[in-house]
Amino acid sequence: MANPGGTGAAAFVPAGAALPDLATAIAGCRGCDLADLDGTRAVFGEGPAGARLALVGEQPGDVEDRRGRPFVGPAGKLLDRGLVEAGIERDQVWVTNAVKHFRFRSDGPGSRRIHVTPDARHVTACRPWLAAELNRIRPAVVVILGATAGQSLVGPSFRVTRMRGRLLDGPPGSGARLVATLHPSAILRTPPDARDEAYAGFVRDLAVAASVLI
Ligand code: URA
Ligand code: SF4
Repeated sequence: MANPGGTGAAAFVPAGAALPDLATAIAGCRGCDLADLDGTRAVFGEGPAGARLALVGEQPGDVEDRRGRPFVGPAGKLLDRGLVEAGIERDQVWVTNAVKHFRFRSDGPGSRRIHVTPDARHVTACRPWLAAELNRIRPAVVVILGATAGQSLVGPSFRVTRMRGRLLDGPPGSGARLVATLHPSAILRTPPDARDEAYAGFVRDLAVAASVLI
């Protein structure tokens, strides 16, 4: 049965559950209409429960959906490189997304699944999962990778160009700082003549986040 508009994920998030139980429970989430897209699954965050840094992307892509892990496709490869250059070890950080289901259309060549940016209603519906993860982990710094993560963690006033690369205060009581930067997919889409510069800025922003941990 379709899920008209969805009512949000809150009803599906088990209260007080630890991360492994959240990761199990999310498979049953029907908090928004992305649960109705055929052949996808919710991709939960991954990393150590004691991570001091969390990275928040937009939503899983085609590769992430097939493998059930965040940031393991082309954008993930770029992210991995940037983390190394910024002195951050990926296996020490929590990696997740603002929206946990892959939104796509499949009218591309050979019925390839083409990424579609999630709407504000998807971001809002899925926020309880992100909040639950971050509540369990309580990282010192949360890196916002692009506009969708910014919508979820800061709100509609978020502008990556204006806010990137600076330490921002997280939600009151969270104890976390926020650092915004470009989404790695935006770097992959940057014209070749400007890509090196975009990537260098991305690494600089990640290094600002890393500086909190020293
Ligand atoms: N883009 C994202 O925002 N997240 C992923 O996990 C992969 C690509
Ligand atoms: Fe639930 Fe988020 Fe998936 Fe929507 S995108 S069904 S809220 S896990």
